[in-house]
Amino acid sequence: MYVDVVLGLQYGDEGKGKVTHYLAKKEKYDYVIRFNGGGNAGHTIYHNGKKVITHHIPSGVLHGIPSVIGPGCVVNPWAFFAELSELEEAGIECRHLIKIADNCHIVTNDHVASEVAESKVGTTRTGNGPAYSSKYARTGLRARDVAGLAKYTVDFFEEILDKDDPDLCILAEGAQGFGLDIDFGDYPYVTSSHVTLGGLMLCGFDPESIRDVYGVAKVYETYVGTKEFQDYDNDTLAMIASAGKEYGATTGRLRKVNYLSHELLYKSIKVNHPTHIVFNKLDILRELNEWKVINAVGVIEDLQSEERFCAEVETFVKDINPLVRVIFSDSPEHL
Ligand code: IMP
Repeated sequence: MYVDVVLGLQYGDEGKGKVTHYLAKKEKYDYVIRFNGGGNAGHTIYHNGKKVITHHIPSGVLHGIPSVIGPGCVVNPWAFFAELSELEEAGIECRHLIKIADNCHIVTNDHVASEVAESKVGTTRTGNGPAYSSKYARTGLRARDVAGLAKYTVDFFEEILDKDDPDLCILAEGAQGFGLDIDFGDYPYVTSSHVTLGGLMLCGFDPESIRDVYGVAKVYETYVGTKEFQDYDNDTLAMIASAGKEYGATTGRLRKVNYLSHELLYKSIKVNHPTHIVFNKLDILRELNEWKVINAVGVIEDLQSEERFCAEVETFVKDINPLVRVIFSDSPEHL
């Protein structure tokens, strides 16, 4: 069995969907799986000229690949069925492809209501945190307990892990990003799941089955939430937000923007061990001709040209892992 994984190296919204789509078209995967998060993730898809946003459903279904919402995820059944209907209205037939691990935890209406009442860190208000609270308090409901989901549930161990097929190939689609990880992120301004390679391993895969790890970042950073992140007097950052159309796919909120931080990259590379790093949205900095980074000692440094920017970022990353392949890329074309 081989597992490739796509992970966010920053605060989510790095353009993981673009990389996932590319891989799903290029490689022959038997399954696409999600392993963390739930309705808080947002993935924008353009299909036959229609914009569709998925939250729970792995993007493998767009390529006709069986897809599993894996253990480690939380599922809101109402939102799940709404997404299925939306995909069908856009001409994407996927009911026969989508499965839910029967040990996924359920986001109930009470979870959503309690979060709306007390969201301090600027959450997506999808009930994500309260659902994980119930899971760890051992008071939660699982997908296998919900009759309406019976057609979709599978035992993840039997469906995937126990298959004796050396050629079985899986793509794991991470949600959110390293800076939002429950343990490595800036607590409490984090999400409630494990977003790192470790989060994938909790699904039960053999460590030796992990093949390629695609870490995805933007050439600047964005974050949505209540912590201080952006210097609002900085016109360049405001211009980057506007040129990069930095609005959240789940909540429509304006994302806060900052320059590429070497410190966050350093940690996320050390923890996730990527074999490839894709830096997206180079076209946005090119449009503005702005090439600043926050260097390893926390100081804003102007690298002045695209050439120098790319060369210095690549050198920084290769000093951490000389074998990593670095790819600079423009904004996702309509997927
Ligand atoms: P929650 O995951 O809804 O509990 O939100 C916790 C934090 O994670 C907030 O700052 C959210 O804005 C952020 N967050 C959660 N999911 C995403 C995502 O998919 N993209 C960007 N930020 C996210």
